[in-house]
Amino acid sequence: MFRQFIELYGACRNTAGYLCFLAQTVPQPEPVVEMRDLTMQWGPRPVLDRVNLTLRPGERLAVVGPSGAGKSTVLRLLAGLQLPTSGELRLFDKPQDYLRLDQTEPPDVRLVFQNPALLASLTVEENVGFLLRERAQLSRQEIRDRVNACLEAVGLYDVAHLYAGELSGGMQKRVSFARALIDDPQRGDQSMPLLLYDEPTAGLDPVACTRIEDLIVKTTSVAQGCSVVVSHVRSTIERTAERVVMLYDGQFQWEGSVDAFRSTDNPYVVQFRTGSLRGPMQPAEH
Ligand SMILES: Nc1ncnc2c1ncn2[C@@H]1O[C@H](COP(=O)(O)OP(=O)(O)OP(=O)(O)O)[C@@H](O)[C@H]1O
Ligand SMILES: [Mg+2]
Repeated sequence: MFRQFIELYGACRNTAGYLCFLAQTVPQPEPVVEMRDLTMQWGPRPVLDRVNLTLRPGERLAVVGPSGAGKSTVLRLLAGLQLPTSGELRLFDKPQDYLRLDQTEPPDVRLVFQNPALLASLTVEENVGFLLRERAQLSRQEIRDRVNACLEAVGLYDVAHLYAGELSGGMQKRVSFARALIDDPQRGDQSMPLLLYDEPTAGLDPVACTRIEDLIVKTTSVAQGCSVVVSHVRSTIERTAERVVMLYDGQFQWEGSVDAFRSTDNPYVVQFRTGSLRGPMQPAEH
C-alpha cells in the first residue's frame, strides 16, 4: 500500500514537473494587439492617455464606455485609419508607424462599421468580392464561389445578383459581415484576422440583436480570428465577448471577464450597468 502511494506520488511529481517544463518551453503566441503607453490627442485633453492593452490570438474583447469616451477612436487606430499621437501600437508583432493606406502589406484587420457602408451602385456579389477583384489573381468563377460561401455563412441565399440598395437594413448588415469574412488567398492559410465591430447592434430590435450577436461569434470563429466589439448593449457585450474593458477619461478604468463584469462592484461598471446618473462618469462641464 505504502509502496503504491510512493509510486503514485512520484508519478504525480513527475507529471507536475513535466507540465512545468512544458509551460516553460512552449512559447506563448505573439499578441495580436499590443498598445503601449498609447496616447491620442486632438484638443487640450487626450482622448486616450498612455493606455496599455494586449489581445492574444482567439480572444474576444468588448470595449465599453460612455459616449465620447474614445471607443471608436480605439477601433480606428486598430484599423490603421489614424495614427497615435505618441506611444506604440503593434499588430501581429509589427509596429504600426504608417496609416493602413500607406502600408504595402497591411495587417489583416477588418472593420465592420456601424452603418453597413455598402456601395449602393454595386451588386451584393461585387460588394463582398470587392477586395478579391482588386487584389487577388482569381477568376470570376473563383471569386463568385468564395462570395457565395461567405453569403451562406451569414444566412443569405440568392441575393448575390441584387443591388445593395434593394436589400433591407438587416440584410445589408449581414452583407457587411460577409464582406468581413472574405479571405484574401494571397495571405496564406496562417493568417488570423482581427475583426472590429463598431456598435453592431445599435438601434436593432432584441431578436435582430440576438441574430447579429450570433453572427459576430460565428464570423470571428469562421475566420479563426480575434474580435473587438464596441457596444453599449448589454446582451451584445455579454454574448460576444470574453473580456471587457471600460474606457473613461482617457483610461481603461476597469478590465475583467464577462462574468466579473456582471458582478463587480467597481463604481464605473456599476454606473454603466445600472444607467445611473450618479457615479464617477459625468458629462464634461461646458
Ligand atoms: N478626427 C477627429 N478630430 C478631432 N476630434 C476627434 C476626432 N475623432 C474623434 N474626436 C474626438 O474624440 C473623442 C472620442 O470620440 P469617439 O468617436 O472615439 O467616441 P466614442 O466613445 O466612440 O463615442 P460614441 O459612443 O458616441 O460613438 C470625442 O470627443 C471626439 O470629438
Ligand atoms: Mg463611437
